[in-house]
Amino acid sequence: MSQKYGHLNDDGSEYIITTPRTPRPWINYLTNGDYSALCSHVGGGFSFYKDHRYHSILRRGAHVQLDDLPARLWYIKDEGNGDTWTANHHPIGVSDTFEARHGMGYTTIQSSANLIDAQARYFVPPNVDAELWTMTLTNKRDVPVSLSIYSLAEFVLGNVSLDQHESQIMALFNEVEEAKRTLILRKTWWHTQNGWAEVEGHWPKQVFLTTSQTPTRMLTDRNIFLGPFRGYHNPAALEPELLPDGPGSGKDLVGVYQWRIELAPGEFWSTQIAIGILPETEDAATSTTLLSLQDSAAYEDAWQQTTAYWHNLCSGLRIATPDPQINAMINWWNKLQVMVNFHFGRGPSYYHKGQYPAMRDSCQDAFGVMPLAPKLVRAKLLRIAGFFFADGAACGGCNRIDLPEDRSIKVDLPLWFVLVVLDYLRETGDLGILDELVPLMDGGESTVLEKMLAGVDRMIDERGPHGLPLIGQGDWNDAANAIGTEGRGESVWLAQFLYFVIQQFLPLLKDRKLAERVSTYSERAEEIREIVNASCWNGDWYVRAFKDDGSPVGVKGQAEGAIWINSQTWAVISDISPRARLEACLDSVEAHMGSAWGLTNLAPGFSKPDETIGLITRFRKGWKENAAVFSHASSFNVVARALLGRGSDAIDLFRRLLPLGKDPDLYCMEPYVYSQFVVGPDCPEEHGRGCYHWLTGTAAWMLRAMSDYIIGVRAEWDGIRIAPALDPAWPSVSMERTIRGSRYCFQIENPDGVESGVRTIELDGTPISGTLLPFPTAPTHGVKIIMGTPG
Ligand code: GLC
Repeated sequence: MSQKYGHLNDDGSEYIITTPRTPRPWINYLTNGDYSALCSHVGGGFSFYKDHRYHSILRRGAHVQLDDLPARLWYIKDEGNGDTWTANHHPIGVSDTFEARHGMGYTTIQSSANLIDAQARYFVPPNVDAELWTMTLTNKRDVPVSLSIYSLAEFVLGNVSLDQHESQIMALFNEVEEAKRTLILRKTWWHTQNGWAEVEGHWPKQVFLTTSQTPTRMLTDRNIFLGPFRGYHNPAALEPELLPDGPGSGKDLVGVYQWRIELAPGEFWSTQIAIGILPETEDAATSTTLLSLQDSAAYEDAWQQTTAYWHNLCSGLRIATPDPQINAMINWWNKLQVMVNFHFGRGPSYYHKGQYPAMRDSCQDAFGVMPLAPKLVRAKLLRIAGFFFADGAACGGCNRIDLPEDRSIKVDLPLWFVLVVLDYLRETGDLGILDELVPLMDGGESTVLEKMLAGVDRMIDERGPHGLPLIGQGDWNDAANAIGTEGRGESVWLAQFLYFVIQQFLPLLKDRKLAERVSTYSERAEEIREIVNASCWNGDWYVRAFKDDGSPVGVKGQAEGAIWINSQTWAVISDISPRARLEACLDSVEAHMGSAWGLTNLAPGFSKPDETIGLITRFRKGWKENAAVFSHASSFNVVARALLGRGSDAIDLFRRLLPLGKDPDLYCMEPYVYSQFVVGPDCPEEHGRGCYHWLTGTAAWMLRAMSDYIIGVRAEWDGIRIAPALDPAWPSVSMERTIRGSRYCFQIENPDGVESGVRTIELDGTPISGTLLPFPTAPTHGVKIIMGTPG
């Protein structure tokens, strides 16, 4: 693994970055699930509350992915000679030493220049909607020093897109109230546009900035701070001895503090800053949250709570394999990534700005969070259950801030909801959720179970000329959006997916004695299975879709798009075909779509726009859905490999997808989280480049691929299935996992070096027959599994 820019710490919970000059800003998300601060290794990044589009707090720069500005800035001026530089290295870029540590819920940055050591710490505590900054400066000189320290935060207050398009008009709506060491910031106009629906009013929030050390001066007008023809590298306001005066209301806003300090040799000074959000109804002047954050002791309490929160959350599932990179990803980073996706969807990153939290993604993220925090999943499922219509259709988005949403044009959404509710039921046994009443988008209400049934009912008869589900304007593959615009195109993947969802649903329907549904769904599933096998197999793989004119997409011999990944992977996951075909599907995928970094979405890529397939054909060849190594689809395939017992293959692909092993100068993205895709071999000049960091369903699927399918412990309807599929070179692995409140320790031994198969299982020292464990009967359980040929 390249150590050029950094490395993991010993237990894998921190990524230590040893130079500020990484190929791109490498960021962390500091979040309690509501307040979220993106923080790069040089302190860059923006923040928001719940929804980055409309409750934006710190400003997102238009080109943040390269310049990483604005940032959480600390200027240091030597009052003796006027030298000015920035702690965290960035942006003035002077430092003799540098080390950043991204950890679970926090980032620390050490830097030194001119014999002044600067130690920054940033985190978001679990119970306060604020980001907390600490800066400690130490005089390493052998003479006293006189310094000015300036901190800078830059504000949006509300709508991020309007801020980027119209910052100087939006400034007119800014209001500032200034007290001794506190700013209260408000916005008198707020505009949202979600789909076709608009909301207009004043921003229903207020932001505060406060500090533990009374500053010498404060300034809020960004234009005065920077001055004309200047930038963050040389702000005008640092030149005079004291920050100039300037009005705040009606101006483009920053919050700048200046402290004048004297430090004896070896002496240190520190201050804390909090930037937080309050409801508009709270009296900020007397807010206990705000006032408590003027005391440095509160920051230490909050720090303890933050580290405890993340360690506790991550402890829900822990693995120990012979591969330290896999352990670090699963035990720490994968979980942080999945939580970020779960809370905020695919919107707030250095590469995405305005995307909305989508239904399909939210369901899959919940699937990832399931083993860690099933209670959070329950709340989320009930919230997203509110985005359905009586006829079973779903909204595309499921925002968290009560904005109206529209009916989606994507056809697969309701099925993801059914799948994740079923996963929740198996994980927790909490059948009560099925009877919870939740409002419908078109009036009235229905239970969670009724919504699931309506979702499947709607799908089973919406079928085209072959009898396969209609693809409409897109299924999982958002960009294959023109295959069925005329209403006749069909999706083979969706057929497999529907078949799978029905198989998963049947045990519950039988339990609930819904005999009619059991028989209709079983009949339809059987019909679909027959059609998929009779009409969609082309010798070595499954067709992906049929266009409106009936012609197939994804057939052997086609010059472009001859094979698509999902209709092979999901043939296996749904178990829709005879074993020999499933094996052939996986072989074909590797043969046609394999690359050093994972699997491409399809092959060969499209080289020119095709109006009968859609947007996918317009992306640059080798990029995004057009034949990139698409991480999310590759992670589905890890599951498929493990399900067929190909342990070696599953782990091989798992490793290829790991960001940790990649050449950072080629890959560019963070080495500790998955990116949406890696440029594919159809773009040889950039093959291997990582794109769109952090926000991807890959996080959820890689976590579950490892725990449920590779280590192979998964809750089924009647118990816990043990079905490992391991690298034969691994002599043993273990996993600790909380299931239904009981702490399990699974120890798997592989004395014969097999890829799959279980010889014996002992539960608390007693042999059990078969591979299904009963659900827990005690607070702890020990399970010993010996792999091999069943005896
Ligand atoms: C993105 C979307 C996801 C979609 C995938 C393929 O990852 O977030 O919903 O399934 O692209 O188009």
